[in-house]
Amino acid sequence: MSVQISPSILSADFANLEHDLGRIANADWAHVDVMDNHFVPNLTIGLPVVERLIKVSPVPVDCHLMIEDPDRWAPGYAEAGAQSVTFHAEAAKAPIRLARELRRIGARAGLGLKPATPVEPFIDLLPEVDMLLVMTVEPGFGGQKFLDVCLPKVRRARKAVRESGLDVWVQVDGGVSASTIERCAEAGADVFVAGSAVYGAGDAASAVDELRELATKVC
Ligand code: DX5
Ligand code: ZN
Repeated sequence: MSVQISPSILSADFANLEHDLGRIANADWAHVDVMDNHFVPNLTIGLPVVERLIKVSPVPVDCHLMIEDPDRWAPGYAEAGAQSVTFHAEAAKAPIRLARELRRIGARAGLGLKPATPVEPFIDLLPEVDMLLVMTVEPGFGGQKFLDVCLPKVRRARKAVRESGLDVWVQVDGGVSASTIERCAEAGADVFVAGSAVYGAGDAASAVDELRELATKVC
């Protein structure tokens, strides 16, 4: 299990996204939050903007789709070159078919779970996905308080992955910072999304290094 840091550009300057991607060139991924104002009560960017971000990003793009009908829209993000595409379990009509389609196109397939969605019904799907995203805030906005109540689910997700013998990553997203990342790592997460903790810091690259160091000590 190796630690990966995926800064969320939701907290970046939307008028200077190329510049702000350059500030996290030492990260493993750039986490791009796509919201449609239906699945979550917020609206961000869509495929035309993400296509450009993929072209200019110094690191691979980790697309987090908080949208209705990902069965229809998610493959377009994989086709645009996103190296990881996560859709939500609560929104997908045919998650197995969709995960297979994403992989066929060449992306890693991620399955996202909102805080109140249990992991157990999806354990049989582990062979179909490359990553489980355990949300640690209600999706929709950056800068929210970390929900400790989600940590037992991270633990159960990691246990299920370990027992499956598969190399499925466990990502946490929401309220991840220098004061919460160790708890996430200890619970079994290995991919850490952080928006405000990275872009709210004066030096985003140093914030990435600090988070990586804290998580690595535990993992
Ligand atoms: C929230 C998004 C997150 C968000 C995290 O719905 O999925 O990726 O940017 O922001 P922070 O790290 O500030 O909680
Ligand atoms: Zn996200």
